[in-house]
Amino acid sequence: MAVDYKTLVDSENGLLDRRIYTDEEIYEEELEKIFGRAWLFIGHESLIPNPNDFFLTYMGEDPVILTRDGKGELHAFLNMCRHRGNRIVRADDGNAKNFMCAYHGWTFSNEGKLVSVPGLQEAYYGELDVENLGLVSVAHLDTYAGFVFATWAEDAPTLEAYLGDMRWLMDIQFNRREGGVKFFGPDKWIIPNNWKNSADNFVGDNYHAPISHRSATLARQQVRGHNIDQQFKPYSTPGQQVSPGNGHGMGHLTFESDEEYWKRNQGQDQIILDYEKSIHPEMERRLGFVRTHRMRPGHSTLFPNMSWRAGPRPVRLWHPRGPFHTEVWAFWAIDREASE
Ligand code: FES
Repeated sequence: MAVDYKTLVDSENGLLDRRIYTDEEIYEEELEKIFGRAWLFIGHESLIPNPNDFFLTYMGEDPVILTRDGKGELHAFLNMCRHRGNRIVRADDGNAKNFMCAYHGWTFSNEGKLVSVPGLQEAYYGELDVENLGLVSVAHLDTYAGFVFATWAEDAPTLEAYLGDMRWLMDIQFNRREGGVKFFGPDKWIIPNNWKNSADNFVGDNYHAPISHRSATLARQQVRGHNIDQQFKPYSTPGQQVSPGNGHGMGHLTFESDEEYWKRNQGQDQIILDYEKSIHPEMERRLGFVRTHRMRPGHSTLFPNMSWRAGPRPVRLWHPRGPFHTEVWAFWAIDREASE
């Protein structure tokens, strides 16, 4: 029976039925209608900088090979052999012109073509439709600021339209210096929650921070003598929640002056603070005054599967693993132009 979402989501009063986080049928529908159709973040260009580099990723639960061909063009293919459905690539990343399936040896180029079939003449009498048995490609692939996105939907809007005004907000973190950012990682782990908890946490839940992050705050206080309790009021720091559409969103703090911001960040490594100060002129040239001096991004989600937060700019890629689990991939985005 089709799920009646109107009985589960009460937007007017801000109420949700907990079934949306636990119901197997709803999860299956999400895989089909969200992860099977939306533009999904699948990796960053800096993870595969050279021709023939590849990086193994996912779109929802579907394993996907993100690769550059010999000319440096990006492609994304379902990691599934067209013979009997075996997974072809087993390594997390690497450099390869061709991918050979370890079951019967069919081999595909990194442009997705089936280039070799053992026994093509003897076993198939030369009649196999080799031309039409290439790897299954995503419908569209595009990039923004080096972030690679793909969708299975032929009729998807352009990536530019899908990201919309979120690009203006992404730029604060990832386009603030010439050359953008470089990715490190990922670290991977599985958490026992529904993927929507993660996306929701980054899009708008700053309320948890004083409690959930208390142990980290206390550690910082002990190690660096930074008494954060005396310096800001966790439940009344001025800020805004921004909702640019399509499910994307950001929460950011606003500061009256740079001094106020630096004061708030006392306790961070001095080398980081000095670096942040030193790039302000370049940021202001690229992003303007408001995004350099007044908006300090706290936490963001680009719907449905990418989130990031301020500071050293950790980026999260959420892979759904059933209604009760999420596989987290954590990257660090560092300015390309930053010193070692
Ligand atoms: Fe891949 Fe047979 S399943 S070659």
